Amino acid sequence: MRILAIESSCDDTAVAIVEDGWRVLVSKVASQEKIHARFGGVVPEVAAREHIQALYPLVDSVLRQAQLRPKDIDALAVTVGPGLLGSLMVGVNGASALAYLWKKPIIPVDHMKGHFYSAFLGEGRSPILPALALIVSGGHTELVLVRKHGDYQYLGGTIDDAAGEAFDKAARLLGLGYPGGPAISRAAGGGERVGSVVSLPRPMMDRKGLDMSFSGLKTALARQVGAYAKGQLAAEFQRAVVDVLVEKTMAAVKSLRPKSVILAGGVAANDFLRGELEQRLLAEGFPFFVAERKYCTDNAAMIGAAAYWEYRPGRKYEWYNAKVKI
Ligand code: KG4
Ligand code: ZN
Repeated sequence: MRILAIESSCDDTAVAIVEDGWRVLVSKVASQEKIHARFGGVVPEVAAREHIQALYPLVDSVLRQAQLRPKDIDALAVTVGPGLLGSLMVGVNGASALAYLWKKPIIPVDHMKGHFYSAFLGEGRSPILPALALIVSGGHTELVLVRKHGDYQYLGGTIDDAAGEAFDKAARLLGLGYPGGPAISRAAGGGERVGSVVSLPRPMMDRKGLDMSFSGLKTALARQVGAYAKGQLAAEFQRAVVDVLVEKTMAAVKSLRPKSVILAGGVAANDFLRGELEQRLLAEGFPFFVAERKYCTDNAAMIGAAAYWEYRPGRKYEWYNAKVKI
């Protein structure tokens, strides 16, 4: 099954063609990063306008690069939420119009489930279910158990800021620019534990349960700005966030004993987090899956994968049924 997927929930316009839930024929992202960097964060109204400009030229260029025509596509898929209302509307309306014109089914996809399925992209990787997933993005930070396709159970997550949001705010405090995750990780260098002089708290890490909190960490960091070198502060901040994420994930893994563990979402592009979690899981004997970095941050290939795994033959996927759900 060949799916053309569209993702526009935040500030990236993305289009991809994915076969059978794992083979990416083409995946393109038109980033608005430079435009929003001027404001230090995403401006929703600006994002929606940029999506309008970018969407159809991107669909064209993806089809051309894949050397395919609309008749070669079996279905469309589109992110219906969660995300910015205006941004989502551009994607959903744009995709629905194509579904009408091309007479194709359109599969609505939840953005977070899209992140989950990023781990299924690429040859020879098919995480076995039940899978436990840590999904860490700019808007969400959650642990979910996926027993079978379409059956998601929320186990716990942040009670305030998302991990990616914490990275973005910390980077702003340190004057490192936007988006914050990659900037902090660059400033932190390897993120080694040796020689660390700064010490930040690990909020809620030793508490029972799977909830987390990251907003206090940012306040603690603010108090230390100026007292230490930026690189040291960035490294300790990254360590603190990663320690909490890894401890909570390991607690969930040990009690639920899933068949595989998935790391997904923009923050999953973080090398230190990938390395630390992989090491702990290998030591405990749990298979670990994380997408290539380019499929961790927002993209449409993951939406095409999710659509494939959630598609139910026999169900109606009419062009007028895809609705924004924030
Ligand atoms: O999944 P995503 O692209 O968009 C949302 O759905 O939110 O995630 C974006 C978030 C941003 O907060 C960004 O700072 C963070 O992911 N991020 C990272 C890294 N790359 C992106 N955080 C830590 N380290 C990175 N290398
Ligand atoms: Zn995302």
